[in-house]
This record gives sequence, C-alpha cells and structure tokens, in this order.
Amino acid sequence: MKEDGEDLTETETPERIESPVDAPRASAAGSTSPATAEKPSADNRAKAIEVSGLSLFYGDFKAVEDVDMSIRPNKVTALIGSSGCGKTTFLRSINRMHELTPGARVEGHMTLDGADIYGPGVDPVEVRRQVGMVFQQPNPFPTMSIYENVAAGLKLNTRRIKKAQLDEVVERALRGANLWNEVKDRLNKPGSGLSGGQQQRLCIARATAVQPEVLLMDEPCSALDPVATLAVEDLIQELKKNFTIVIVTHNMQQASRASDYTAFFNLEKSGDPGRLVEMDETTAIFSNPTQKATEDYVSGRFG
Ligand SMILES: Nc1ncnc2c1ncn2[C@@H]1O[C@H](COP(=O)(O)OP(=O)(O)OP(=O)(O)O)[C@@H](O)[C@H]1O
Ligand SMILES: [Mg+2]
Repeated sequence: MKEDGEDLTETETPERIESPVDAPRASAAGSTSPATAEKPSADNRAKAIEVSGLSLFYGDFKAVEDVDMSIRPNKVTALIGSSGCGKTTFLRSINRMHELTPGARVEGHMTLDGADIYGPGVDPVEVRRQVGMVFQQPNPFPTMSIYENVAAGLKLNTRRIKKAQLDEVVERALRGANLWNEVKDRLNKPGSGLSGGQQQRLCIARATAVQPEVLLMDEPCSALDPVATLAVEDLIQELKKNFTIVIVTHNMQQASRASDYTAFFNLEKSGDPGRLVEMDETTAIFSNPTQKATEDYVSGRFG
C-alpha cells in the first residue's frame, strides 16, 4: 500500500472516548426494531434514533416544527419534500451540525439508542463521530491522497494506530464502499483526481472508516450520473447491514428503490416552518399515503 516510511503511524489526537451516547442500548428505541435481528452482521453498529417535539431555528426563524420520528436501525429512511421544507436542517440536527450555524437553536429531544444526543455534557464532536455525514457534493480533502482521505477521520479519533492496522481499515472501508478495486493501485494519488461517482464513494469510505453507527446522506447522488447513482444505491443496501441510514432525496424513484421507510416533510406556505406530514414504510407512502399532501407530492402533482 502507499505511505512510505516506518511501520508505525502515530498521531497526537485523543484516544476514542466512550461518550454518554455510547450508553447501553435502551429499551425504547432498540426494542422497536425487528430489523436488527433480520441481518445480523459482525460489524453491525446500527443504532435507533428517536426524535420527539423537535423544532429547529435559525435565529427567530423556525425552520422545522415539532417533529416526532422513529428511525430504525439497519434500515434506510428517506426524507422527502419540496425545497425549503427543512430536510437538510433536520438531517444536520441528527449529528449536531445544525448548531454550528451562528444563531441556530434546537428545541425538543433526540436520542441514539436511548442516550440523549443533546444531553448536558454530551460532546458534539463525539456525536459527529457516531453519526457520520455524506454531503450533496462529493468533498474529498483536495490536497490528500485517496489513502489519506479515508484515514483522515481515523487519525483524528485514535491516538496511536499502527501503519498495518491503518492499512487494514482503509482497505476495509474502500471495499465496503465498493471502490477498492478501482483505486487499489493508486492509493497515493489525489482523491480529487477520481470521477464524481468515485469521489462520492470515497467520501462514503471516509465516513464509514471511523465506524459510525448512523450515516446521514444529503442528496448523495444529485451530482452523479445514473450509473454512479445506481452504484451508490447498491452500496446503501450493503451499508444498512451495519449502519442506520438516513438519506435526503428529491428523486422519488430513488426513495422507492433505496429506502425502507419514507418521511414526507412539507410546509404550508413560504415562511412557515416545515413539518413532518407522515412517515411510514416506503411502499405505503408511495402506494397508499394517508395524507393528500403526501399523495400529491409522490405522484408529482405537487405545486
Ligand atoms: N443557514 C441558514 N440561515 C437561515 N436560514 C436557513 C439557513 N439554512 C437554511 N435556512 C432556511 O431554513 C429552511 C429549511 O432549509 P433546508 O435547507 O433545511 O431545506 P431543504 O428541505 O433541505 O431544501 P432543499 O430541498 O432545497 O435542499 C429554508 O427556509 C431555508 O431558507
Ligand atoms: Mg437540502
């Protein structure tokens, strides 16, 4: 593999700390999921998310109002709804990125396997390690090689890691992202030299290398062509064996192909907060939604 020099890579960053969010699986969220029993995997780390009474603000503006939602482990949950209804805002609240925006505020509760994500003393940085994110535009670190891109998060989270161990994790993450065969002979080449679809899979490898429990994806295929999109969708099906996945998409076919559950967000009119209209199994949302607004949206009659 790449990276010349000695066999030991050491970084000075803090060792991985078990946070309150790593508390034992709590009954409420965990027990709701028959899914964990469905596909046991040695690497399964998926956790359940329970959201109650969640409202999200930018200063005085309430962007999302009063969301209650159960997100199941080892399942793909799609968030759909028209532009501006708060999908990204909601997604970013799951790993405490929302509060990075100056003036942004959160009300309500959210737990990861029963542990309060917003509890006093919970380190948002640790939450972000447990809840990884993949963005709309592939964003590999431009000056870093393919190898370094995948290793970057690990080096931040682990104080000492042997080169051989790092090699192993990088390979596993790249294999997991269905990218290994395409890049194994050029690991020390810049990540930015890959195609868009490859870059997005590299970002997925980077996000999964640190072994999160949840993977958030904000329109991960919107910059990709149909072939690369299908490759990422296949990958999502693989990843759900180990992770809980929440994906925002504007592509109704993608939501119906790739997700197990779908949550439809909507806003009454511009300036109003976005609300969760309904959430159900994806087949039900697309074939038999209970709300007219959902039906209008999924059938393309929206607006
Ligand atoms: N940094 C910000 N400061 C102030 N308001 C914001 C900010 N980011 C988003 N908003 C507002 O919050 C609301 C929800 O935005 P959000 O980006 O979550 O919508 P979205 O559903 O992801 O839309 P899209 O489908 O276009 O990505 C919008 O009214 C938006 O203008
Ligand atoms: Mg968005």
